[in-house]
Amino acid sequence: MSERAAVLTGLGGWLPPVRITNDDLARELDTTDEWITTRTGIRQRFVVPPGLSTSGVAVEAGRRALASAGTGSVDVLVLATSTPDHPCPATAPEVAARLGLGEIPAFDVAAVCTGFVYALATAAGLITARIAGSALVIGADTFSTILDPADRTTRAIFGDGAGAVVLRAGDRSEQGALLGFDLASDGSQSELITVPGGGSEHRSRGLAEPADSYFTMQGRSVFRNAVTRMSQSSRRLAERLDWPLTSVDRLVAHQANIRILSAVGSELGLREEQLVVNLDRVGNTVAASVPLALAEAAHSGAVAPGHRVLLCGFGGGLTWGAAALEFPRLTVAPPPGPVAPRAPATDRATA
Ligand code: COA
Repeated sequence: MSERAAVLTGLGGWLPPVRITNDDLARELDTTDEWITTRTGIRQRFVVPPGLSTSGVAVEAGRRALASAGTGSVDVLVLATSTPDHPCPATAPEVAARLGLGEIPAFDVAAVCTGFVYALATAAGLITARIAGSALVIGADTFSTILDPADRTTRAIFGDGAGAVVLRAGDRSEQGALLGFDLASDGSQSELITVPGGGSEHRSRGLAEPADSYFTMQGRSVFRNAVTRMSQSSRRLAERLDWPLTSVDRLVAHQANIRILSAVGSELGLREEQLVVNLDRVGNTVAASVPLALAEAAHSGAVAPGHRVLLCGFGGGLTWGAAALEFPRLTVAPPPGPVAPRAPATDRATA
């Protein structure tokens, strides 16, 4: 029996041109390449040059996803970001205009590092509800613009970037159909990841410290929550789909820390080659993290047609979630940047 579904037809990622290695950070801050590599797995990250903001990186990824889908038009644009160009208005309408998409509905979704999974679910819902026939979903963030320049921990972890997908209406039986989602939040822990100032809460209390507009996080609690929540969500979704975890070919989890990814992997009983990893080259790119990792893996062949793929995210809010699909045949442009993506040692591609 046919069942309408949102189907992945295009994928692309983009990184800004300024590369910062761990040694570059060590020249500026009290840190070392050894500390960052062993505690996080990150070796380098890319950041925007002066004048380039989230809309700019989103446009580049959006253009690549549209080219990958072989189309110049979509019915709706959903942009996941927590670093919009301005607090108001949303950044998505500007991105839509700069991509020449016409007067389509365009809006932002703010769920920090879970943003892309939330935005993907939103766009898939618009398609299955017959509100749209196609969608461009972009995850883009420029966290370098909200980090405290003196904070060695956050400077080591975060990088800028964007990743995007195109969805079109199709059938659930098609390769590329989004088969299910698991979404959740826990606002009682909102203080673990926050930019305290700049919003209505501080303003209404008359508080305005310039440093309050910097991003802050409680690393250890975030770490523990990330492992528990991403494992929970992935397991829940796999069970709902009747996918034994051993049958999942690739888990594309939020790229926060290699130790978080390994812990999620062991929690779920996954082998190393089932985990897609690109954080060593790009750091934590927030809402861009999952689509960027997927784009790099699709280009390198680490994710192949026919693979059962789970996407999963965790971030501020707290928010977390997962999505599932069988990966389709796509043409994905090589991601920019000086370092080639790495394919896992063994590949279990089923098609
Ligand atoms: N270089 C050198 N030392 C550093 C450092 C750096 N870049 N960053 C932190 N440190 C220091 C700390 O100041 C602390 O020093 P102290 O013991 O003198 O106070 C020490 O390293 C240990 O800090 P701790 O926080 O216990 O380390 P950790 O092993 O938990 O690693 C994180 C810290 C941030 C890497 C880790 O907690 C983490 O990855 N958390 C999740 C972050 C994340 O993913 N955020 C986004 C989620 S969406």
